[in-house]
Amino acid sequence: SSDNFINIVEVGPRDGLQNEKSIIPPATKVELINRLGKAGSKIIEAGSFVSPKWVPQMAGTAEVVTAMDKLSGVTYQVLVPNEKGLENLFALLAKHPDSPPIDEIAVFTAATDAFSKANTNVTVAESLEILGRVTRAALDKGIRVRGYVSVVIDCPYSGKVTPARVRDVTKALLDMGCYEVSLGDTVGTGTPTTVGRMLDTVIGVNPVRKLAGHFHDTFGMGVANALTAVSAGIRTIDSSIAGLGGCPYSPGATGNVATEDILYALQGSQYSVPGDLEALVETGFWISDKLGRDNSSRVAKAIRAR
Ligand code: HMG
Ligand code: MG
Repeated sequence: SSDNFINIVEVGPRDGLQNEKSIIPPATKVELINRLGKAGSKIIEAGSFVSPKWVPQMAGTAEVVTAMDKLSGVTYQVLVPNEKGLENLFALLAKHPDSPPIDEIAVFTAATDAFSKANTNVTVAESLEILGRVTRAALDKGIRVRGYVSVVIDCPYSGKVTPARVRDVTKALLDMGCYEVSLGDTVGTGTPTTVGRMLDTVIGVNPVRKLAGHFHDTFGMGVANALTAVSAGIRTIDSSIAGLGGCPYSPGATGNVATEDILYALQGSQYSVPGDLEALVETGFWISDKLGRDNSSRVAKAIRAR
């Protein structure tokens, strides 16, 4: 039933690539997005309209999303941190009135001031004010808005995070009009126990079907934490092809749980997940090769070694 359908938000082209030091050619990013869409990804985070001084790798996002194939049935999103980013996106959309390259935006804040300051130069309260304006302006143009809360378990700057804080920031994002809020274990230190405890608190106040799980796999807990979220009633998981990625403002954190690992973990279960595992494995090795990186998906490596 649709109640057992797990939505996957493929964050590889954004979260996966944003931390790469050498600038990846736009053509490679375009091909990655196109391959993911052909492999059955239904929601793809294609890039960010952030400051190129803060995250140089995402500077070419307008060019990338203009050049990519816009597959029907696939939703394309970009990250927008402030009004300047939204202005830049609107300018791009105005150039393509008949075929908007981007369907939705994602806004992002954090559960701690220290992380929010490091990531976007404002406190959480200040960021919620900015994002309230961004969200209203996007909704006015018929663009849906997703929200992110970072550091839902641990903060690299201020330590252990109180679940009540995550609950309240999540509620603020939903109240301003986000259709869904993705809960980010940015550092990747969470376990089924700490994630479960955090979710209990967040779900006490926020509808579980408006939540998503975003688990970085630094400690190898990504799959376990994603399944914990699914057991709690969450039906949207963010994942990254080949487990690529990391946040520039979370030192030492690795990529998101690999898309291939999530698909494999849910095979044969009562849950259905979109995506062609074989084609995704192929795509994961292709991009890892392009980046000169080891493929971080255990499943992909095991399948290839057969
Ligand atoms: P700031 O320096 O405070 O910005 O940065 P400002 O408003 O003072 O403006 C300074 C300059 O930047 C100005 O240009 C602006 O025009 C320009 P100047 O006059 O000096 O030439 N500027 C912009 N340019 C392009 N696009 C924009 C933009 N905004 C201002 N949108 C700012 C504030 C938010 C811009 C900056 O901190 C920033 O871009 N941060 C983004 C950080 C980021 O992308 N982090 C990674 C994504 S979040 C993440 O990975 C976590 C997640 O995966 C979940 C999880 O794992 O937890 C989502
Ligand atoms: Mg992330």
